[in-house]
Amino acid sequence: GETAMHFMPDEPSLPALAEAASRCSACDLCHSATQVVFGEGNPNARIVLVGEQPGDQEDIAGRPFIGPAGHLLDECLALAGVERSDVYITNTVKHFKFTERGKRRLHKKPNSREVFACRPWLEAELGLVKPEMLVCLGATPAQALLGRDFRITKSRGQMMQTEWCDQTLATWHPAAILRMSDGERRGQMQEQLVGDLRQAVERS
Ligand code: URA
Ligand code: SF4
Repeated sequence: GETAMHFMPDEPSLPALAEAASRCSACDLCHSATQVVFGEGNPNARIVLVGEQPGDQEDIAGRPFIGPAGHLLDECLALAGVERSDVYITNTVKHFKFTERGKRRLHKKPNSREVFACRPWLEAELGLVKPEMLVCLGATPAQALLGRDFRITKSRGQMMQTEWCDQTLATWHPAAILRMSDGERRGQMQEQLVGDLRQAVERS
């Protein structure tokens, strides 16, 4: 199938990539979403955070992690001693995927075809920012960058080497923490996310 490679600018820079991605139609998600949500943040960041896919509010605003999951992430970054403006934040898939339930748009997990189609954008971002620490938030970026067999429940917080970054780790997605109904478990997951982010800060 087609991939985002087809839309890649000749001379990549972060602004050129974001502009080119706004015209990407390598998968069907561009037809239902409002707009592309490209990565943003410090172009010289030592830490890059990779989420799954923009949510409802991100789709409307055109910016990553500005909804409920983003607020929790900001809180956890602050507890880990890093500011949002210090890092670069992006997603594995750049267009929002959803199912309509009445007036609500419910987030739907991207499939492997969509992840594959979109991954040239992520690889290009990583190639430009060249982080010292790459943090995967949840299973989607972890499986895209660390392999399909990666299990977040088994290998969360473990430092690994990838072709994009010598120090790559995966941790809980903040949305998974928000969804957790068991309050005790939720608190524990949040502590683990903060601990993993702190590890990223200390090693970068
Ligand atoms: N969840 C994500 O994975 N990314 C966002 O940008 C927002 C919510
Ligand atoms: Fe292109 Fe990614 Fe959007 Fe699909 S989700 S159209 S690959 S930018």
